[in-house]
Amino acid sequence: MIFIVAFLSSLLLSVSSTANALSLNYYDKTCPDAEDIVAKVVKNAAIKDKTVPAAVLRMHFHDCFIRGCDASVLLNSKGTNKAEKDGPPNISLHAFFVIDDAKKEVEAACPGVVSCADILAFAARDAVVLSGGPTWDVPKGRKDGRTSKASETAQLPAPAFNISQLQQSFSQRGLSMDDLVALSGGHTIGFSHCSSFQKRIRNFNATHDIDPTMQPSFAATLRSVCPANNAAKNAGATMDPSSTTFDNTYYKLILQGKALFSSDEALLTTPNTKDLVSEFAGSQVAFSEAFVKSMIKMSSLTGGQEVRKDCRVVN
Ligand code: HEM
Repeated sequence: MIFIVAFLSSLLLSVSSTANALSLNYYDKTCPDAEDIVAKVVKNAAIKDKTVPAAVLRMHFHDCFIRGCDASVLLNSKGTNKAEKDGPPNISLHAFFVIDDAKKEVEAACPGVVSCADILAFAARDAVVLSGGPTWDVPKGRKDGRTSKASETAQLPAPAFNISQLQQSFSQRGLSMDDLVALSGGHTIGFSHCSSFQKRIRNFNATHDIDPTMQPSFAATLRSVCPANNAAKNAGATMDPSSTTFDNTYYKLILQGKALFSSDEALLTTPNTKDLVSEFAGSQVAFSEAFVKSMIKMSSLTGGQEVRKDCRVVN
């Protein structure tokens, strides 16, 4: 009990120290059904298209890492301004229609009240739940930003990052190495294009054709799926064999040399992160608890100013 109280107070402290103070009861009076409306839309979309949950979870991560969780990733390019959405790492984002649909329904119930950034945070939580993962109360009250620049997507961590590059990227946003290991578990669901890991499976370096940290038969399978020179643009692999189920398989695969990205494998390169990978590989509960804690922390990085009427356009 003491632990829970201490945990909740430290969480509230960290949440309230961000730019927009977030709270759990933010819409209680102004839009009490907002979360239910979003959950219903995400669920219906996921029933029709199994790739929706992973897409929405990644979209929220990419939103939060650029200018905080301010829905900057949802804005369309306009005139000479190329928006985040059209930056290289975001070309593979998809399922924006889910957030549009949710916003439309929320606007019909309570116009001008619920930010797109909050809707995306709810949807990311719903995506995890729909995949069989843990649930949590999302702190609310984010505002939507007015700026979105494709050039800023260069600040997103890349799949070729080593552990110190990952550490830097996360710590710049107030996130720890523990957060890095827990949040990387988002890779328990979804799909990756060959382009994101092809450097590991051909011409890796002067001495190795294949990244020696990869399990050889795993690398061979990836080579058979991904033609040389990225010739098949849509080809790729699921993040893990249970790619629609939010479980701890991702960590087991890392330990077996079967992770897709160098950034996944990199979690084994410091003693602390390696210990955590082993802990999560051995305990779904430990992973779920850590993931929830780190998601609340990441999704509380705020930065916007307004409540957009249309998630694709500033007011
Ligand atoms: C630690 C740094 C991270 C790197 C370098 C990274 C990199 C990537 C890359 C390269 C892809 C594949 C994109 C493609 O080729 O289509 C991907 C997919 C994905 N990532 Fe990450 N990621 C990171 C962290 C995260 C975090 C923190 C989350 C969420 C908590 C996340 C959730 C996802 C999901 C769900 C997918 C699958 C998307 C889909 O199927 O549409 N990633 N990531």
